[in-house]
Amino acid sequence: MPTEQELEQFLKTAKAAAQEAGRLQKSRLWSDFAVDFKGEIDLVTEVDRACEELIVSQLAAAFPGHSFLAEEEGFQRGDSPYKWIIDPLDGTTNFAHGFPWFCVSIALEFQGAVVLGVIYHCMMDELFTAVKGGGAFLNGRPIRVSSRSPLRRALVATGFPYDVARDNENNFGNFVELQLAARGVRRAGAAALDLAYVAAGRLDGYWEVKLKPWDVAAGTLLVTEAGGRVTNQGGEGYTVYDHRILASNGAIHDEMLEALTRARAARPD
Ligand code: IPD
Ligand code: CA
Ligand code: CA
Repeated sequence: MPTEQELEQFLKTAKAAAQEAGRLQKSRLWSDFAVDFKGEIDLVTEVDRACEELIVSQLAAAFPGHSFLAEEEGFQRGDSPYKWIIDPLDGTTNFAHGFPWFCVSIALEFQGAVVLGVIYHCMMDELFTAVKGGGAFLNGRPIRVSSRSPLRRALVATGFPYDVARDNENNFGNFVELQLAARGVRRAGAAALDLAYVAAGRLDGYWEVKLKPWDVAAGTLLVTEAGGRVTNQGGEGYTVYDHRILASNGAIHDEMLEALTRARAARPD
């Protein structure tokens, strides 16, 4: 395990990189920028790429030898047990449309376990941070998950994969079950922020399918450090390389699992 001083140094550098990338995002929103297609509806903007370059170069300069798993450029191997997992701009569709709901997500894995997470929501100037075993914070103040239950009184969130029109695992059945069982379901378009909001008690639960490690690595640590629960959709242990996530305040977790199980039973495979 890294020492406390090492973690502090990692956190300081990750926070600075996230805030600088966030400032760039804020300054470029509602301006002209190039947009490319990674798939039929899966966009990438020049701002995603510029943010990734900025974050990776700052972290690599500070910690030479560390590995990087970043959304746009993929995996770069270093020679240490550390791996930075980076979504330079989570919520790209929102950003490209001028819908101001997106963030930077940076996590650090040590020997396969996430030990640090930083999520920066520049439009609200909100910086969510967590270090394993040290609690979760928003702009330096401790945050906790909500205690709200049952599910009928809960506000939960989800999202849909980019291949939604081409694959049966499109999350629609789950959405119907949860919308029927909860007070409300939100689909805001940035998975990392959904998780940060569960950590801060602003959402009570969140589930999604087919996410990538960079969407969830920082957010899952925030949720567990804020006292919440994160599992796969079978209720078993979750790693950021799993495809089906369920995160909650703990109090509604089993009810959410039951709703997802009902949806699975009804789904033709
Ligand atoms: C996406 C967002 C969205 C989620 C998608 C993700 P991106 O990430 O987090 O909320 O529903 O599954 O891929 O492409 O904006 O970084
Ligand atoms: Ca993402
Ligand atoms: Ca992204």
